Amino acid sequence: MVQEVTTQKNIAMLGEGFYSRVSLGPKAVIDNCRSLVFDALEQIDIHETHRPLTIADFGAADGGTSLDLIGSVVREARQRYSERSLSVVYTDLPGADFGTLFRHVNNEIEGKPGYLHDLEDVHVFCSGLSFYKQILPTASLDLAFSASAMHYLSRMPAIINDHVHAVGASDYERREFRAVAIEDWNLMLLRRSRELAPHGRLVMANFCIDEHGHYLGNTGGENMFDNYNAIWSQMRDQAVITDGEFRNTAFQQFYKSIEDTLRPLCDESSEVFRSGLVLDQQETRTVACPFRTSYEQGVLSKTEFATQFVNTHRSWTETTFRAGLLESRSANDKQAILDELYRRFEEKVLDKPQGHGKDLLHLYIVAKKLPDQRV
Ligand SMILES: C[S@@+](CC[C@H](N)C(=O)[O-])C[C@H]1O[C@@H](n2cnc3c(N)ncnc32)[C@H](O)[C@@H]1O
Repeated sequence: MVQEVTTQKNIAMLGEGFYSRVSLGPKAVIDNCRSLVFDALEQIDIHETHRPLTIADFGAADGGTSLDLIGSVVREARQRYSERSLSVVYTDLPGADFGTLFRHVNNEIEGKPGYLHDLEDVHVFCSGLSFYKQILPTASLDLAFSASAMHYLSRMPAIINDHVHAVGASDYERREFRAVAIEDWNLMLLRRSRELAPHGRLVMANFCIDEHGHYLGNTGGENMFDNYNAIWSQMRDQAVITDGEFRNTAFQQFYKSIEDTLRPLCDESSEVFRSGLVLDQQETRTVACPFRTSYEQGVLSKTEFATQFVNTHRSWTETTFRAGLLESRSANDKQAILDELYRRFEEKVLDKPQGHGKDLLHLYIVAKKLPDQRV
């Protein structure tokens, strides 16, 4: 039986540090934000000293992918604002791998230099609240950052009957997803607008769909989501999963167009713009799939490529497929089905590696909070 459409517990990344260990692409995207973040740090109000300078990473997962960037910006801020306490707030959903996150910042994970152990007056906090809520106190946030997180929706807009992702949904289903995505995006921006201090900056790298119809996993070669759909429907046809389980499986995500993304920050009549949060700069960039690049350069064998490429998306897709399965199945049964799904994906890549890859297409945005407006 198809479960009621509601907010699914299907968003978490795989835990115990697995997400950031295999997420070379998302890390490269974050490292790509360095100059935007450092420029933003330079723009924020340097005169205010009565409260801590506050930096936040929204949707930080286990903190491993942003560790280098946040560490270097905190070090820079420590030097630049030597008299001020520094606060770093990491946010994610309650099921996130916060334990690993604290081990990362505390320099407790080999090969991943943290920053808390050798800096004075730096204070790290975590929040398990959704970024669709106000998390920080009003006008207390100086530098907000987020990468690869804002395509997750606050709720599941509809059942997708014939695909696992909105990119393959029917027109009607896709309209439902787009409506929720636009509503969520406005809400998320209004929440940040309220939190940001005058002159504060919001730097983001968000997945998007560009003017060529490209998006993550569909940048010219194989379409990753169509491949997932093909395997999941094959497993349905072979009765490995039920039809209800197939239809109950969908990513709670939507890739917005560039226009839909920028509108609230540019349109003078929008609530976000009127709250004083406006666009500073934007551009799209693509980070080539690091696993495909290594394979093409002969650094990875075909088998290593297939395993590492599939693992990198297993880290964020597995919970979605698991959530589609009937609750009455045993844990072992669920795990066997998931292992089979990823085995089949690996087999597909091994059969014909050409065209597989997960190029990371993002819209990089800097928004600024004008000093004279409050929501
Ligand atoms: C693909 S991961 C990106 C993690 C990290 N920012 C990076 O770029 O590597 C997306 C993260 O967003 C989090 N997320 C999704 N919806 C969220 C929400 N409503 N509030 C807070 N975090 C959310 C997920 O739990 C996940 O950790």
